[in-house]
Order: sequence, then structure tokens, then C-alpha cells
Amino acid sequence: MDQTDDVLSKAPLFAALNDEGANALRASITEIRLGRGQRLFAEGDAGDRLYVILSGKVKLTRTAVDGRENLLGVLGPGEMFGELSLFDPRPRTASAIAVTDVVLAGLGHDDLRPFLADRPEVAVHLLKALAQRLRRTNDVMADLVFTDVPGRVAKQLLDLAERFGKQGDDGLHVHHDLTQEELAQLVGASRETVNKALADFAGRGWLRIEAKAVVLVDVERMQKRAR
Ligand code: CMP
Repeated sequence: MDQTDDVLSKAPLFAALNDEGANALRASITEIRLGRGQRLFAEGDAGDRLYVILSGKVKLTRTAVDGRENLLGVLGPGEMFGELSLFDPRPRTASAIAVTDVVLAGLGHDDLRPFLADRPEVAVHLLKALAQRLRRTNDVMADLVFTDVPGRVAKQLLDLAERFGKQGDDGLHVHHDLTQEELAQLVGASRETVNKALADFAGRGWLRIEAKAVVLVDVERMQKRAR
């Protein structure tokens, strides 16, 4: 797993470990590869493993009884998921589906538990990641109540830009790899309303729309619109 060591060592789980600890944890890792669109697990499944993304992107979704989907988040390299059922051993709270081809490091909950008990610094890092997720979830909930759809679109694009953006001469390129439908599920609005907001931003010259990507041309205006 040499080429992926760098990603792993920056993940919250490993950041707190010294070399000896990191090597011990690495020994219990299994590598999993998924093709685009492949499902790793479904909401309601029993969960016995947490995952760190080594390359590619994974979406976490929940499905309503009428079949509508809500996208809780899109995660990329270095980010972790599947930890809720580690701390609270109950079924998976969301489905995990590959948005691109993906390579994952899987760690059994049973292999991890002794680390949490013996090395409080690992538990602290995991708690930090959980706290960040809770903060973000609270922000998303408040935005659903207080912020209009264009504001939420601007916010989500800025969040994706922070994690996946690459600065080019002509703007900040954000390859989110999401379809229009998935972007709408992430914003929590209809595809039509989200597309209208995107077209409006494009018309004002704040961004350019590309296939499964946007180029943010005027980040400052987007930040103002997201407030
Ligand atoms: P688990 O419940 O084991 O499996 C589904 C995973 O989705 C869950 O652990 C978390 O890692 C992840 N998850 C759940 N809710 C969110 C959220 N709001 N944002 C990002 N990830 C989430």
C-alpha cells in the first residue's frame, strides 16, 4: 500500500500515532476497491468496519420510504466514514456508494477497539472528527431552515471547493464528480431549483458549469451569497 501511505498518515485516525502505533494499525488494514456506482454497504446493514478513503470519492445517502434520496455528504481522500457503528454498535445510518472508482482502507471495529483503549490520543482524534461532523450537520440543518436554495448551492460548492478544488489560471476548478441530481440531493432541493441557481450564478459570471464540475471564477461573490 506504499502509494497510499501518505494519504493514510494524514487521516485523523493515524495522525495521532507514532510510527510503531501506525505500523501496528496498518497491519490490520484490508484494501477494498470499488467501481463507480458500486455500493459498499446499505443503510440498515450491520456494521463492523470503518473506512479511510485512499483515492476517489464516496457518497453517503439515506433513502426515504417514497424512494427520494438525501445526500449526507461526499467524502474524498483522507476522509473517514463508518465510525458511528464503532462507537454505537447499531446498524449503518447511511448507505455508502462510490461516486468514482475508489480505493479504501478498511479497519475492523474489533481491531480498532484495543487502540482506542490503549492510546487515548487516537480516541481524541476520532472524537474531533466526529465533533466536526456534528458541527457541519448543525450548519446544514440551520441552512435548510434559514437559507434560500441559491445560498445553499453557493455554500455546498464552496465546501466542495475547499476539499476538492484546484486553482487554475481561469479560476478554482472543482471536480465534484456529482450528477445534477446528486448535487440537488446534497443541497436538499429539486434539480430544477438547483439548476436555476447555478444558471443564475453562471449568468453573473461567478462560475462556469462543466460536466460533473464547476469552475469558481468569483469566490468572493459566492462567499457573500452563501452568508
Ligand atoms: P455508520 O453509521 O457506521 O455508516 C454510515 C456512515 O455514514 C456513518 O457511520 C458515518 O461515518 C457517515 N455519516 C453519517 N452521517 C453523516 C453526515 N451527516 N455527514 C457525513 N457522514 C455521515
